[in-house]
Formats: sequence, C-alpha cells, structure tokens
Amino acid sequence: MKEKMNEIQKSFEQDLEGAKTIQDLNDLKVKYLGKKGSISELTTYMRELSPEEKKDFGASLNELKNNVTESINSKNKELEEEELNKKLASEVIDVTMPSTEIPTGAPNILEKVVEDFEDAFMSMGYDVVEGSELEEDRFNFELLNLPKNHPARDAQDTFYVKGDELLLRSQTSGMQAHVMLEKGGKEPVRMICPGKTYRRDNDDATHSHQFMQIEGLLIDHNISLSDLKGTVDKANRMMFGKDTETRFRPSYYPFTEPSVEFDISCFACKGKGCSLCKNTGWITIAGAGMVHPNVLRMCGYDPKEWNGFAFGYGAERCAMLKYGINDIRTFYNTDLREVKNFDRKEVE
Ligand code: DAH
Repeated sequence: MKEKMNEIQKSFEQDLEGAKTIQDLNDLKVKYLGKKGSISELTTYMRELSPEEKKDFGASLNELKNNVTESINSKNKELEEEELNKKLASEVIDVTMPSTEIPTGAPNILEKVVEDFEDAFMSMGYDVVEGSELEEDRFNFELLNLPKNHPARDAQDTFYVKGDELLLRSQTSGMQAHVMLEKGGKEPVRMICPGKTYRRDNDDATHSHQFMQIEGLLIDHNISLSDLKGTVDKANRMMFGKDTETRFRPSYYPFTEPSVEFDISCFACKGKGCSLCKNTGWITIAGAGMVHPNVLRMCGYDPKEWNGFAFGYGAERCAMLKYGINDIRTFYNTDLREVKNFDRKEVE
C-alpha cells in the first residue's frame, strides 16, 4: 500500500512539474483529488485493512492528500502571479506619449451669422418666424405687388415645382404676407424671418442656386423711413462693429415705396477704400423700403391707418464679408479641409 502511495506521489510530482497553466492545475486536481481521482480511489482499500492498519493508512493518506493540495495551491499562486506580470508587461501605458487630437465640430459660420442677426433684432422686440421653403406663387409674388407677367418677376429666375402655382421660394419676402394675414390687419407686427431661398442661378463664386435671406417687417402707425434707418443702423452696428455706418441709396422693389438698398461703411478699411469694398468705402448688404400700400391692402391692413417698413439681408454676403470668405459655394461644401477654415477669425 505504501508503494502505491509512493507511486502516486511520484507521478503527481512529475505532473506538477509539467503543469504550465491554471487549467493544467485544475486537471491535476481532478486527476488526483477528484471523486474518481487516484487518491480517492485508495480509500476503497480501507475496507480490507485491520483497525490498526487502517489508522496508519488513514494518516498517511491524509498526509498525501494535504501534500498534493498544498502543492497545487502554491503552484496555482505562482502561475497566477506569472500571468499577472505578463499582462502588466504587455499592457504598459506610456503616460508621457503625446495625446491624439480629437476633431470636434463647430457650427456653420452661416448659421452663426443668422443667430447673431436674430439676437440683434430680438433685442429690439422682434419675433423670429420660420416659413416654408415650398411656397405658393400668391405669397412669393402676387401679394407682394408682383402680379403674373410683372416684368420684375424675371429678375428672380424661379424654380416652379407644380404648374405655375407652387414654387421654391425665391425670396423670404413672402413671409411678410403670411404674417400680416395671420394678424388679421389689426395688430402691429415686428418680425424677422431667416431662411433658405432658391433661384435658377448658375453657381459661381458669388451666386448659388440656394442662398439665405433674413427678412424683416415692422407694421405700426406713423412709421417713417428714418425709423427704418435707425433700426438697421443699430442692427448693423451690433453685427459689424459699433463704428459701422449705414447709408441708403434709392432702389426699386415692387413691394416697397420708396425702396432703398443699404450699404455699410467698410469695416475692413474703415471707409478709406480697400479690395473688400472695391475702393468705394461702402458695402451693399440689403434691400429695404416702406411697405407698399398695395401690399398692406392685399394683406388686410388699411394703408390709411397702418404703415411700416421691410428689409431683406443677404445672409451669405454678410457672412462672406464678416469672415473673409470669397466663394459663396464654401458654405455648402462638405470638404472638411475647406469648412475647417470657418474657425478663422472675423475680418478686423
Ligand atoms: N426680397 C428682395 C430680394 O430678394 C430683398 C428685399 C428688398 C426684401 C426690399 C425686402 C425689401 O423686404 O423691403 O432681392
């Protein structure tokens, strides 16, 4: 019996020597200490022994069992440590390595210009309204004093969507009619409407078939051209700097009378003349005027009682000037190398 035990001890030592992984050790546990393991099997011999022998045998068997258990446990510990060290060595982190730059997005500069306009006009009590890019001919033209066959329609090469009634709005001015009709001719109006507009233009550096306008409308009593001047002058100073001056030049729009275009003093050269203002010292940024009595009447306001002014800024033009961008297509470009330049700072 002793021999048998020695044999088991020897073969266990050999096996232990060969065990290289925790899994190997688990297999050894089963092989020697498991229910059908070689040590457990020895207990079946107990029955054949005398009580005296049994005592002896039992003690040796326990000793063998403890030996095997202890050896397995300590080897287990060794292997665990080894594995941990290996893992730590392979997962070294060099905290002195330079970090990788994570690219972050930024709002499109055009969006920023529109938001700045909104802030400027909201500070003067204007509501910001939104309209539909799909518009009826009636709102885009007729209610704005542009009946069918009016020659000024030609200036706005329009995308018609369905017959000659539904179109992609060629100007945001149609929102003037929407808002006035909604108010029912009884309430004053102060609104701006920024939004996309479309014309059948050939795209080049200064033209795009899609562009943005910021429409404005004020209706009240006894409004004069100087109210318009004071209002846009204030907004222009907020947008382009407090020294910015605004000048009006006569112009023509069918929905305003009188009509003007307005320029701001060039903020790049302070009016001295430079390439941005083409040496004139002034830059045109919008059309405007006093709302035509016909428009007021068609939109439910009695021109004997009510009057007001309207204006329309070109958003891209303002953004291009403010941020020194010389191609309108840049705003609608998805090439990140170009769009990245939008972080450039404002023209001084
Ligand atoms: N809608 C005009 C255009 O697209 C711009 C404009 C001019 C808007 C005069 C106005 C205005 O509200 O009063 O050219």
